[in-house]
Amino acid sequence: MAIILSGKELAETMRQEMKAEIERLKEKHNLVPGLAVVLIGDDPASVSYVKGKERDCAKVGILSREYKFDADYKEEALLKLINDLNRDIEIHGILVQLPLPNHINEDRVLYAIDPEKDVDGFHPVNVGRMMIGTPGFLPCTPHGIQQLLMRNGIEIEGKHVVIVGRSNIVGKPLAMILVQKKPGANATITICHTRTKNLAEITQSADILVAAAGRPHTVTADMVREGTVVIDVGVNRIEDKTRERGYRLIGDVDFEAVSKKAYAISPVPGGVGPMTRTMLLYNTIQSAKNHAGIE
Ligand code: GUN
Repeated sequence: MAIILSGKELAETMRQEMKAEIERLKEKHNLVPGLAVVLIGDDPASVSYVKGKERDCAKVGILSREYKFDADYKEEALLKLINDLNRDIEIHGILVQLPLPNHINEDRVLYAIDPEKDVDGFHPVNVGRMMIGTPGFLPCTPHGIQQLLMRNGIEIEGKHVVIVGRSNIVGKPLAMILVQKKPGANATITICHTRTKNLAEITQSADILVAAAGRPHTVTADMVREGTVVIDVGVNRIEDKTRERGYRLIGDVDFEAVSKKAYAISPVPGGVGPMTRTMLLYNTIQSAKNHAGIE
């Protein structure tokens, strides 16, 4: 049986560290990190993510302000709100929950956020900084995956990391982060996607295999070599009448079978998800320190 890479446990440890740091910022610098969370519409997954983010902020001592609007909220009004938040000195991070309703241009909204408050790391300025390897906000899921590997003592340098999925939120930025000439990186990367030929052949050559395709059972046991480290980024809702809420979450990996071959594996839930949320807190604290000129 593989070692379980518990994001839930690591997230808890990191949140304790952050709580202590925020207390220090309050005492020494009279600084309270502030996050604005914008939610448009009532997509159940988004509502649940936003609730989680607010709860996380409260637990570590970050001020969080919610802005919730109906699904027909106008793009112009949203751009005006972002403009106000860009200038709001209590707010260090601005998060607009995605996906946005179809009548709103997602790029226009994300590009309107001040890159110095872009704690999601989605603004092209931060994407560019990530690629070059200069300081900026790293997107939360890939940054959380790097932390989950590093803080579990898994060597990344020189390893072949195979990523299945090329999204702008996970696959592409994870490749950029792990290829840098830096500690916790220096990996050789292969990105696979829906047009990849011989997918199983490539995944079998992975030292670290990351499933981020958004589809259950993307990675099955026959695709994994003995001793591989497997990271499951999938969050798929599967109908389950035995649960009160009517569904349960499964990842992109066939956990049951793959965990018998892998050296280590991250579970769903309790793996990458809590790390994503934790890195949002990390970026918000970082932003507050940057704005106050604190090292
Ligand atoms: N929707 C799903 N994941 C994310 C995320 O990491 N950030 C934002 N803003 N929206 C999301």
